[in-house]
Amino acid sequence: MILKLAIVGGDGTGPEVVAEGLKVLDAVGQDLGFQYASKPFDFGAERFLATGQTLTDGDLDDLRQYDAIYLGAVGHPDVKPGILERGLLLKMRFDLDQYINLRPVKLYPGVETPLKNKTPDDIDFLVVRENTEDLYCGNGGTARLGTPQEISTQEMIATRFGVERCVRYAFEQAVARKEAGYPGRLTLVHKTNVLTFAGDTWFRCFNEVGEEYSDIQREYHHVDACCMYMATKPEVYDTIVVPNMFGDIITDLGAAIAGGMGVAASGNLNPDPDSTNPSMFEPVHGSSPDIAGQNKANPLAAIDSLALLLRETGRLKDETLLVQAGERINAAVQQVTPRFAGKTLDRSGYSTTEIGQMVIEAL
Ligand code: NAD
Ligand code: IPM
Ligand code: MN
Repeated sequence: MILKLAIVGGDGTGPEVVAEGLKVLDAVGQDLGFQYASKPFDFGAERFLATGQTLTDGDLDDLRQYDAIYLGAVGHPDVKPGILERGLLLKMRFDLDQYINLRPVKLYPGVETPLKNKTPDDIDFLVVRENTEDLYCGNGGTARLGTPQEISTQEMIATRFGVERCVRYAFEQAVARKEAGYPGRLTLVHKTNVLTFAGDTWFRCFNEVGEEYSDIQREYHHVDACCMYMATKPEVYDTIVVPNMFGDIITDLGAAIAGGMGVAASGNLNPDPDSTNPSMFEPVHGSSPDIAGQNKANPLAAIDSLALLLRETGRLKDETLLVQAGERINAAVQQVTPRFAGKTLDRSGYSTTEIGQMVIEAL
């Protein structure tokens, strides 16, 4: 198989970190002897400012020709917030039905966590974030704009279909992790004490599906308490399943306790084996306008997202070489992180290209 990759560098630091990922891909491809073909796409602020286009239906058809999408970040100070985020990133997630956002939270060797007395054994969990519903749907609107009577609404959507496919995926992940030695615990994070409609759909679905997984211990935490536990006893988490908006928020907190945005990887998955929609892999961080163009962004998050891309695409297509390649890259990232001892991941003083080179040497 020749792996076909669509590359979307995007804005700000996105293209800088993706460039390092592609060097790593080249190195691991040569080493393991797998072939790939990649094509860059110019989606992002520059194209939008020149043409008014964010992501067209034609672009989506083009993307469907690829096995996976590797993306840097989108968002630009010259473009009103929401245009690129909704029109490009969320459109891609929604229209390619990437209904799972997989975000591992793992403290890598040598990385300093801001949490006192916590070690890599304590901070090692997987967040399964629902990725197509919730407040993100954008249902709502504004009336009487600009008047003292202005009204705006933005609704939280939970469909049984969307919730159930995410919950099922999360139970399967908890099972797979249990086989790898983790406790076999799945925690639903929501806010059922206030969000009594959407929360109830999640809670009932979680418990009904959970009956089919008698080996998996079920827990429930309100999202506010979850933030407190993540900061005080993150070891209670093995696998978390969470709706879209709360998942967005807790995974930035997850990135912070695992050392910073510079190492947080993610995958936007359509895990259905017969789907023609490719999955998309990107770091959790954004386009970081404050350090863009300065060779300062840490590319480890993007490189580890590439590792996820190879592992997940390999699993989906039954290509063990790709799974191995993903594991090799992840192992190389964990060999590099001890070099950040005594530094922070995000402001280490190492340049983007230096860190990329460290990973290649570790490979
Ligand atoms: P951000 O993640 O871009 O930056 C937050 C802070 O973390 C900044 O100080 C930045 O310098 C630092 N940081 C982030 N990644 C880093 C890295 N790899 N190495 C070193 N430091 C890093 O978030 P923001 O400032 O809230 O958003 C900036 C833009 O990115 C906005 O337009 C936002 O909408 C967009 N955004 C896009 C994505 C995405 O494309 N997936 C994700 C989040 C935010
Ligand atoms: C993320 C980002 C996006 C989200 C934005 C940029 C739309 O914050 O990937 O975490 O909210 O999902
Ligand atoms: Mn986010």
